[in-house]
Amino acid sequence: MDYGAAPEDSALAFAWLDQFQRRFGHFINGAWCAPAQGGYFATSDPSTGDKIADIAGGSATDVDVAVKAARAALKGWQALTLHARARFLYALARQVQKHSRRLSVLETIDNGKPIRESRDIDIPLVARHFYHHAGWAQLLGQEFPGYQACGVVGQIIPWNFPLLMLAWKIAPALAAGNTVVLKPAEFTPLTALAFAELCMEVGLPPGVVNIVTGDGATGEALVVHPDIDKIAFTGSTEVGRAIRRATADSHKKLSLELGGKSPFVVFEDADLDSAVEGLVDGIWLNQGQVCCAGSRLLMQESIASQLIRKLQARMTTLRVGPPLDKTTDIGAIVARVQLERIEGLVARGVTEGASCWQPDIPLPSRGLYYKPTLFTNVHPTSVLAQQEIFGPVLAAMTFRTPAEAVELANNTAYGLAASVWSESVNLALQAASRIKAGVVWVNSTNLFDAASGFGGYRESGFGREGGREGLREYLEPAWFRKAPLLGRGAAAGAGADDANSAESGLDSLAEPAIHPGDEPTIDRTVKLYIGGKQVRPDSGYSIECRSGEGLLLGEVPLGNRKDIRNAVEAAGKAQQWSSTTAHNRAQVLYYLAENLSQRSQELMTRLAAVVGKRQASRELKLSVERLFAYAAWADKYEGVVHSPPHRMVSLAMNEPIGTVGVVCPESAPLLGFLSMVLPLVTTGNCVVAVPSAAYPLIAGDLYQVLETSDMPGGVINMVTGRPMELMKVLAEHDDVDALWCFGDEALCATAKRLSAGNLKQVWTNEGRQIDFFSERYGAGRWYLDHACQVKNIWVPYGE
Ligand code: NAI
Repeated sequence: MDYGAAPEDSALAFAWLDQFQRRFGHFINGAWCAPAQGGYFATSDPSTGDKIADIAGGSATDVDVAVKAARAALKGWQALTLHARARFLYALARQVQKHSRRLSVLETIDNGKPIRESRDIDIPLVARHFYHHAGWAQLLGQEFPGYQACGVVGQIIPWNFPLLMLAWKIAPALAAGNTVVLKPAEFTPLTALAFAELCMEVGLPPGVVNIVTGDGATGEALVVHPDIDKIAFTGSTEVGRAIRRATADSHKKLSLELGGKSPFVVFEDADLDSAVEGLVDGIWLNQGQVCCAGSRLLMQESIASQLIRKLQARMTTLRVGPPLDKTTDIGAIVARVQLERIEGLVARGVTEGASCWQPDIPLPSRGLYYKPTLFTNVHPTSVLAQQEIFGPVLAAMTFRTPAEAVELANNTAYGLAASVWSESVNLALQAASRIKAGVVWVNSTNLFDAASGFGGYRESGFGREGGREGLREYLEPAWFRKAPLLGRGAAAGAGADDANSAESGLDSLAEPAIHPGDEPTIDRTVKLYIGGKQVRPDSGYSIECRSGEGLLLGEVPLGNRKDIRNAVEAAGKAQQWSSTTAHNRAQVLYYLAENLSQRSQELMTRLAAVVGKRQASRELKLSVERLFAYAAWADKYEGVVHSPPHRMVSLAMNEPIGTVGVVCPESAPLLGFLSMVLPLVTTGNCVVAVPSAAYPLIAGDLYQVLETSDMPGGVINMVTGRPMELMKVLAEHDDVDALWCFGDEALCATAKRLSAGNLKQVWTNEGRQIDFFSERYGAGRWYLDHACQVKNIWVPYGE
């Protein structure tokens, strides 16, 4: 007996296409419009090769018109009550549900994914996303006081989950009060256009959502448009890198959801039959064209051959065929170029010596299909183990111990997701906590929910989609945009940070920096502080540090590339800090406060020579307070437990990012340093800091305090020197996981541009003045949020 064909009826979807004479313009300002130039391109059904419709090719002119519409709509959209905004999002969720079958069919014919997936996974998740964010719109004022929308957002999405990616982008953007210009992928524009019609149906104000279709060039025009406030991108790491560079010189906020090579780890005590079913979802969902696909199977050696046998038996039952057939497991590959890419990578895998196995199952004679493929004998450094294939291809490897499993799992430039299989909760959670990935599924795979953030570590990008942390990507503190740029508002340099607020504690600008009789001793020579030791610089050079009046205050080492490398290495070795308890970290911070307080008189005299007595005294006082505040936060900045609509909980953990480079602001040499470094070390990061260029001597004072405060060596490292030079080394260093750079616009732009290599997270002040004297601007959650990345660990819960 075999299955009979069970085709989904596609008549209504085609009737809808016919209403448009199968030709679609852009959706701009609430109406359809023809492309300004460039004409139309075809979108086709990958399972047959048949053309479905003509789609407008977006030019820079089209993008400009759409951005103008979004800008014009922004004020009105933000003037609506939060409840009114919530109603629109709710209405969109309802419309998606009402038209779910048509949307599922459109998705399947455009993308090639089995109808079972678009019907049961993609479209229900789209509706869930809009419902969830209708809730956020309603609660925004209570849950995010003091925050505002970024403004006009440019969003670029890929072809693997076309409408779901649209929902992940548009729902939070609108809930937060932004307006949107979205560009769908050129292979799969149809559901975005159907969604445009839903926007009209619910009466969404014109210009709030604009859809411009086109290819990479259209996306590029959106990225470089000067009137965009934020770019959100999902797609390849290569394009993500290009976008990082292209936006570096602007103030555009950026979130990137990029590729992955996710491990699927099976321990010897796992339920192997469940693991095999997990693999079917993990690697063959959507033909493996999934950024979080479990494409690397890591098996404990003792069960490897048994697992492979079971897997091969299951693979022979997979049905590759017409995507509209409800019995199809694996549909068509999205486009010929993608199929060729898969074939090319598989051929390279064979050349590299891995063993390729495919089940003896039939493929349709027409269309773009590829058999489920299993590679064994894969070397961990081979192309199959390292490169994202984005196809139905699984690369299997073995490990002996749990430690080796984690090491193999982390042996990748990516860090998007992982799946861990074991009947031992201890083993599974221990592995989950040590695998560097934004999402870890325990005894499950490829589960998503609007309330649980999704996003990557390392070259899988930064930022999250879904949940509270996803919403934050579309918000910023209301005061931030208004803060004047350094050198353009109030005087820049030492002590200019009062621009943000009337409540600033800084009032020393007009004060003479130093008084006769106050002169500090001049022959101070400080050293670098690396790995808990005072060390001489590699260069053998020092630079002078002078007061405002030109008095020589002392000398600091001229740090160079080698010193930064040593400091990064020391920070790498100190990562154990992340697993010390929050209570212990708080104890160290309190002890630091105690010791800083004891030395405050001596420190103040020296600091006063540069910033004046009043500021120095204020800095000292607030520094002790700030240490107390972060000691307080250490065991209070915690994650949450989500209850997604599955028999699971998802543990959203705030994890440290790793080694973070910090270029400290020039003003407020002590308070600025601590305001940047403390949130990072409080949350378990290790830091390589470049102290204020105005008064780098502060390093000497600080390391004396650190040395007496039980701060483990390597957690805070200090390299003095020229900030631009040192920052460049930090930005380009692959072992630096994030960079905080607070300085002028040129410094910030360079930091962003140079960080594109390993796509490290870069946080800057955008060249603006930040008032560290105010707790509101200089401390708290905004800093802690940037110091962590959220990892969601999904754990089965209940029967
Ligand atoms: P892509 O990254 O080129 O395309 C994704 C989106 O970006 C599309 O809308 C495209 O038009 C747009 N785009 C392309 N170049 C752009 C540019 N310079 N500026 C702005 N937007 C641009 O991905 P592609 O070529 O379709 O697929 C290639 C590989 O990328 C896949 O084999 C897969 O490995 C990876 N990929 C990963 C995805 C993910 O979800 N992480 C999704 C799609 C592809």
